[in-house]
Amino acid sequence: MSKIGWIIYNGNLPGNKFLDFAEMLQEAAEKHHSTAYIIKNNDVLVTLGSERLDLLTEYERPDYVIFTDKDIYLARQLEQLGIPVFNSSQVIETSDDKIATYQVLAKHKLPIPKTIVAPKVFYNREEKYLPNLEMIISHLGLPLIVKEAFGSFGEQVHLVHSKEELKNKIVELYGKPFMFQEFIATSKGMDIRIQVVGDQVVAAMKRIATNDFRANITTGGVMERYEPSEKAKEIALAASKSIGADFCGIDLLFGEDDTYYVCEINSNAHIRNLLDCTGINAADAMVEYILNKLGG
Ligand SMILES: Nc1ncnc2c1ncn2[C@@H]1O[C@H](COP(=O)(O)OP(=O)(O)O)[C@@H](O)[C@H]1O
Ligand SMILES: [Mg+2]
Repeated sequence: MSKIGWIIYNGNLPGNKFLDFAEMLQEAAEKHHSTAYIIKNNDVLVTLGSERLDLLTEYERPDYVIFTDKDIYLARQLEQLGIPVFNSSQVIETSDDKIATYQVLAKHKLPIPKTIVAPKVFYNREEKYLPNLEMIISHLGLPLIVKEAFGSFGEQVHLVHSKEELKNKIVELYGKPFMFQEFIATSKGMDIRIQVVGDQVVAAMKRIATNDFRANITTGGVMERYEPSEKAKEIALAASKSIGADFCGIDLLFGEDDTYYVCEINSNAHIRNLLDCTGINAADAMVEYILNKLGG
């Protein structure tokens, strides 16, 4: 029996990147004889009551959902209705929060940049609490990275060069969750994106920016074909496994020689750039993996 899928994407975000990703997955599903409907997260309503845990929608119930959005409540509702969701709500939630991700990675003893989590403050008061700046600088050195827990396209990642800049950044970010992080100078303006599906590395590329410390394509990075070393692949696979991802894009930073740091795990990594760079369409591996897991 051919399986019916839903591909949930965010119906509010501007630009066509999100729809493009969904369409790549839909095409791959079609190729594998599965009909997948592309559905905006806001076209499925989560309903709750004492005798009710349901969805309001016009679409027929799927056999599986590929969840390319971060609407955790919707993902969890689908799971509670017994529908297999890829990635799971738990994985999406952890991956979305960089602090939570580093906590999982550290627990699994995976290599990450030294990180200090900014103590939680509840709201943006006139009088700001400042952590011990000297202690942070002596632990991490300068320059150092200040990174928000939630962010993408490099936009919430900042490099500060002095105690004064550090203080200003803390004041600016006051009330949001963020962290301080060792700047991995060996990786300045460069990183590796490794696409993992199940326990396989399906494609990889190197990203290089000449005008920015961040390698994101959106901030001006260019991509290059890249064959990761066995060591880099091993770290990427272990990182994916540590958060329990079905598939994800792992960003690695370059250390000295053949050493790497996990920079982040993207549970909803877009795969268009990877296709353009390598000719490999990761959507095929993703759909194959899902259909296999469902048993047919
Ligand atoms: N600790 C670090 N040391 C050096 N470069 C970093 C560090 N953290 C992030 N970067 C650079 O900034 C980019 C964006 O950071 P990342 O944590 O992946 O956030 P985003 O989710 O916005 O992509 C990375 O791809 C990398 O080039
Ligand atoms: Mg990144």
